Amino acid sequence: MADAADTALYDQIGTGYSLGRRTDPRWMAAILDALGTARVIANVGAGTGSYEPGDRRLLALEPSTKMIRQRPHDASPAVRALAESLPLRDHAVDVALAVLTVHHWTNWRAGLAELRRIAPRQVVLAYDTHRHTEFWLVREYIPEIADVELTRPSADDIANELAADSVTPLPLPWDFTDSVLPAHWRRPAAYLDPQVRRTCSALAQADPDAVERGVRRLTRDLHSGRWHARHQDLLKLDQWDAGFRLIVSRS
Ligand SMILES: C[S@@+](CC[C@H](N)C(=O)[O-])C[C@H]1O[C@@H](n2cnc3c(N)ncnc32)[C@H](O)[C@@H]1O
Repeated sequence: MADAADTALYDQIGTGYSLGRRTDPRWMAAILDALGTARVIANVGAGTGSYEPGDRRLLALEPSTKMIRQRPHDASPAVRALAESLPLRDHAVDVALAVLTVHHWTNWRAGLAELRRIAPRQVVLAYDTHRHTEFWLVREYIPEIADVELTRPSADDIANELAADSVTPLPLPWDFTDSVLPAHWRRPAAYLDPQVRRTCSALAQADPDAVERGVRRLTRDLHSGRWHARHQDLLKLDQWDAGFRLIVSRS
């Protein structure tokens, strides 16, 4: 059973998660490719089940009841559990999947050791925390987010710990549908919407005064045309590498 203190963040910010954090089909395709022919999968830190294939046996493991309650009615079964202590026997499943969750784990190395214990193969989607701090929203408007980001394990740390076989960049298309922090890199007005900010943990965890100050500055720059003048190069791109990496390991 998950400890209540560890689930606190998503029990607070998880409301409305399934509305803003919608499965992006391009990332889904990359994850399916990485899962290959695996028939039995454990999805650790499964949340609302955004990247779960519907055609395999899958067990979702997730500490937050608020997240579990938002899983679709036809989703695979979910059990409350922390990555650091998974209620599964050794090599119980073919693949341990962990999508955008390792950076939340209290003891991420212990959680990765659990992934290796329960499965001979691990598929982890994580991100380069340094690259996130270079994202314009962080660098120019809410630099306080860097304080949160730089305490989190980066994709390289995770790949090293897992002795990864492959690390594949997953760029963000301009019309990405899953509202991760840099999802709206080419649609800056999205960050003016409080619901968008609520479903992203780095924004939800940052000092609210700092976020408000940054959003006020961004509003001014969008009205004056300053943001567009400064980011003309981004406006020409269809996709951008925000640092997301798909890590595959066979232990
Ligand atoms: C950003 S959400 C990602 C959810 C889902 N994997 C997805 O891609 O939509 C992060 C999830 O990690 C979960 N989480 C936080 N700490 C955890 C831990 N120690 N062990 C397992 N999951 C954890 C949260 O409750 C939340 O559901």
